[in-house]
Amino acid sequence: MNADYISTLQNIFRAITLSSNESDVEQKVVIPLLRILGYTSADWQSQVVVLQSKLDFLVGQPDSKLVIPAYLIIEVKAPSKNIAHSVWQINNYMRSTGSVLGLLTNGYNFRILYNCEEKITTIAEYSQPTLIDKYSLFHKVLSKKTYLNFTSIVYKTQQNIRLQFLNSISQALKQEGMLGLFNKTKANSAPNQQTTEEKVELSNIKKDKKSMIITVFNNKGGVGKTTTTINLAAALNKLGKRVLLIDIDAQANLTMGLGIDPLDDIEQKGKKDITHLLTEPRTKLEDTIVTTSWGDVQLDLVPSHIRLSRMETTLNQTVDSDRLLAKKLKKHDYDFVLIDPPPSFGKVNSISLMASSAILIPTQLSAYAIRALEYVLDRTNEVEQLTDEPLPILGIAVSMYDQKSSSYNKSMVVRLFDILEKSGGMNKVELFPETTWIPRLNIVSVCQDKGYPLYQGEFDDRLTSQDKEAAQKVLERYINLANHLIQITNGDLKNNG
Ligand SMILES: Nc1ncnc2c1ncn2[C@@H]1O[C@H](COP(=O)(O)OP(=O)(O)OP(=O)(O)O)[C@@H](O)[C@H]1O
Ligand SMILES: [Mg+2]
Repeated sequence: MNADYISTLQNIFRAITLSSNESDVEQKVVIPLLRILGYTSADWQSQVVVLQSKLDFLVGQPDSKLVIPAYLIIEVKAPSKNIAHSVWQINNYMRSTGSVLGLLTNGYNFRILYNCEEKITTIAEYSQPTLIDKYSLFHKVLSKKTYLNFTSIVYKTQQNIRLQFLNSISQALKQEGMLGLFNKTKANSAPNQQTTEEKVELSNIKKDKKSMIITVFNNKGGVGKTTTTINLAAALNKLGKRVLLIDIDAQANLTMGLGIDPLDDIEQKGKKDITHLLTEPRTKLEDTIVTTSWGDVQLDLVPSHIRLSRMETTLNQTVDSDRLLAKKLKKHDYDFVLIDPPPSFGKVNSISLMASSAILIPTQLSAYAIRALEYVLDRTNEVEQLTDEPLPILGIAVSMYDQKSSSYNKSMVVRLFDILEKSGGMNKVELFPETTWIPRLNIVSVCQDKGYPLYQGEFDDRLTSQDKEAAQKVLERYINLANHLIQITNGDLKNNG
């Protein structure tokens, strides 16, 4: 390795003579040096105008995500020039660009300068032979690896500053009722980043909070149960709620919709899934949870497995099997637990309903889907009688409606009210307001197929700007849905008030 560098450097230096010009030094020494330091031509700009004159090289492209100064600037002179005479020039460039490092060279001598609080200090100086001799140190200081390390530290520091800043303006946010964002930061930040005041408030919220276990229920297939579960959960989390998702459908659409392959990511890695939770008395809820994160959205999931489809008989033979999940969910620390069952009235549906404190019914606005609601309401009544406990229906959430057919939609709403009237649910079951209805848009299924919640669409460069705009529109609806749910479950009334 070392020998390689020695001969490479010797070759580079042989390419110039004392009578070479500045451009020779740039092309034959500086650019080859930048390459062996790990930079590619995309990493630097040459002949950058600074202070009405031309700076030879600016290395380290400013990252659009960061407010970051220039990293390394290089000023090149002809070999006939003494670099000591040009120090003032590089000093000026470094001050005005704010660059961290400077390299001044005439191809024979190399001076490295460091900029700290606008005080510029020479930290090393090499002749050609000493550079060959001490190359590893030269490399350590100027290589791309060091540069990347620097940007990552800047990034982390910036995030900390942002968090501190948010904490300092949180009081104002609270007064403006923007508590969702405020709570979220508190829930996600490390304990040592919370002030005493925040800790006190957090513990009050925990004491007061009413956690909700909700089955997203509709025995009709393909009405948007899984899609609603994923994106509603993400919106709730965006609003500061801790959310657990339970996939109790052998199709495992929820699991895959969160980018997790039940075979490769769970079974092959020896992790547990819903089948273990339901059949092994010793398996606890926390043993089966996997955490997925999407930017600032974090969702915990109990994954499913196709194996669940063969377990109906086993479950039927298990004593008190209907209460299996209910028992495992007795202790948890989530604001919302959303259960996504299969489209049937089978065993796992009973198990989900028995574990739930309420039901949310997603439906399309189509004649058949609306007619099927009658059965859903009947089934809920049966479970209430079985448990002798109320199982409230939080409401009906509209999914996949056609935004262009408003008169058709109105006629479907009339039908829906007829069904509610007929099954005695008129005063008990609310159709969620239109601001929460989710339109049918291709982007919704695209994100699900790609295995992430709609929020992640923003960061996917493969999506077009129209896709991203459409995703944004649907996200607004999911936020409305989440806010509505928070309100009607009283989960945050105290804090919103
Ligand atoms: N708003 C929407 N716009 C467009 N497509 C959607 C929308 N919501 C859901 N879909 C798509 O419709 C299909 C059915 O949705 P989903 O899987 O959520 O229904 P489901 O009720 O969970 O189905 P199952 O009964 O099989 O579990 C999926 O392909 C999904 O991507
Ligand atoms: Mg589903």
